[in-house]
Amino acid sequence: MTQDQLKQAVAQAAVDLILPKLDDKSIVGVGTGSTANCFIDALARHKGAFDGAVASSEATAARLKGHGIPVYELNTVSDLEFYIDGADESDAHLNLIKGGGAALTREKIVAAVARTFICIADASKLVPVLGAFPLPVEVIPMARSHVARQLVKLGGDPVYREGVLTDNGNIILDVYNLQITHPMELESQINAIVGVVTNGLFAARGADVLLLGTADGVRTLRAE
Ligand code: 5RP
Repeated sequence: MTQDQLKQAVAQAAVDLILPKLDDKSIVGVGTGSTANCFIDALARHKGAFDGAVASSEATAARLKGHGIPVYELNTVSDLEFYIDGADESDAHLNLIKGGGAALTREKIVAAVARTFICIADASKLVPVLGAFPLPVEVIPMARSHVARQLVKLGGDPVYREGVLTDNGNIILDVYNLQITHPMELESQINAIVGVVTNGLFAARGADVLLLGTADGVRTLRAE
């Protein structure tokens, strides 16, 4: 199976998992990226079965609207059962690195509101230790050099992601060469640096379920 077919398989598995629990009042939280796009396309085939969605990025909002799915502002939504999103890496405890698509802050906010975070990913994303994928950090532009110096003190090698502004008007530093053995601690250490909006570690709020696309089918991992 190609990587694209694996993404489609996990997207369909996520739809199959949530569909029986949706009704005409349900609003679904939707992430960002190529796997999330597969999920949007699969979900759109059932658009009569739920009310609408909350989007974690402008790109996702546009794709949802393109399918005729109503998109709600998160502030107007009081109840969000599910958030479905991809990841750049996951460990076996469902701690994640996200933000390859620069949408990490809004993704983290929607994930915080949802009761159940279902992560969908192809098998290449499951790793023994997080950190081979450079950790994205969203930073207020004027704090870029200050934050970069602090990240070096934490043992990383930050690289400015040229030409990218987030949906919130901020920049991204990608931090290379971190061996993330204590993701919860590192998440909070980086978030404590003045000028950081948030970082792409999803450990304080990791995924509840990981649907992993493998050559032998979709594996389901649950957080202990
Ligand atoms: C975007 C993300 C994505 O979930 C992550 O980059 C995975 O993307 P893809 O499904 O394209 O591999 O965090 O900010």
